Amino acid sequence: MQSRISLIALAAPFLLLGASAGGAADKGDANRGAYLAKAGGCVGCHTEDRKDAVAFAGGRALKTPFGAFYGPNITPHPAAGIGRWSENDFMRAMREGVRPDGAHYFPAFPYPSYTKISDADLRDLWAFLQSIPPSGRASRPHDLSFPFRWRSLVSIWKWLSFTPGVFEAKPKLTPAVRRGAYLVQALGHCGECHTPRNSLGVPKHSRFLAGGKGPEDKKVPNLTPTRLKKWSDAELKEFLLTGATPDGDAVSGAMDEVIRNTTSQLTPDDLAALMAYLRSLPPLPDEPR
Ligand code: HEC
Ligand code: HEC
Repeated sequence: MQSRISLIALAAPFLLLGASAGGAADKGDANRGAYLAKAGGCVGCHTEDRKDAVAFAGGRALKTPFGAFYGPNITPHPAAGIGRWSENDFMRAMREGVRPDGAHYFPAFPYPSYTKISDADLRDLWAFLQSIPPSGRASRPHDLSFPFRWRSLVSIWKWLSFTPGVFEAKPKLTPAVRRGAYLVQALGHCGECHTPRNSLGVPKHSRFLAGGKGPEDKKVPNLTPTRLKKWSDAELKEFLLTGATPDGDAVSGAMDEVIRNTTSQLTPDDLAALMAYLRSLPPLPDEPR
């Protein structure tokens, strides 16, 4: 016993050295993180909807049937933002939907999708968030109706609905479809709006991306080939880059922002991968009304 303890004591400084050297080598890449933040659409919910708004300093209202959520300040300001967080706090928030003090986040923060982001990508996102200028703008409290403001209720929703864990591709996908699946399911969080939910707000996983009522209670289209097959690749690409539809309409509302902040910002390879994945989805009928 004695000798085992002294062995550990002897080894400890070396273990620590090893850990810190490993930590430095593992530090995320802020430039890659900036791109991933676009692929994740982070700026939308975390920035006010006005011209001179400071990016990531806190957002405008996200209106839901439960009330209005406001994306908080996620700049590295020590008091107003997340400047006092460790990388681990960030990983836990994104992967498990848990605040550093252990309270649950509301799923208006799309961690049910972000849980699938890889460790390496989360580290890059963290490096990026630490590199942006801090803002002292105070986060606005959510404006929720009773009893939905109770964070403890979220634990029930999580128990019903939430499985933390990194993205795992189905076997036998081509590399492009696999990349597209990751972009859609994890970073792009497309399912948060395009997957129908039951009356408890639990997504119907068997109807992934089959459309229905979105989080702001408006109809969101079915993205499986049932619906999308009417568009050629060129037309779908044009839509995801500019929001223009083949019949001359322009996109509006929630998707307009997804196009501006996310799909139009993807590299040509990533956009092609995203489209290849949408084309590969099992066709599903529209949600019955
Ligand atoms: C659909 C809107 C939405 C998007 C998109 C979004 N967030 Fe958030 N985020 C929120 C909301 C709302 C909260 C607060 C949740 C709560 O209070 O329970 C939040 C909370 C957070 C927090 C915790 C902040 C704190 O002070 O506790 C972090 C960190 C965060 N988001 C990072 C990100 C990153 C990184 C991205 C992009 C990959 C992102 N968010 C995209 C809505 C969003
Ligand atoms: C915040 C909610 C939201 C998110 C997130 C979202 N969408 Fe949408 N999407 C919509 C809405 C609403 C429409 C309908 C827009 C309209 O009719 O003007 C739409 C329309 C579309 C359309 C047109 C389909 C059709 O038949 O008209 C495509 C394609 C699409 N979205 C792809 C995506 C992809 C890919 C992602 C993820 C990167 C995504 N969406 C994420 C809300 C969302």
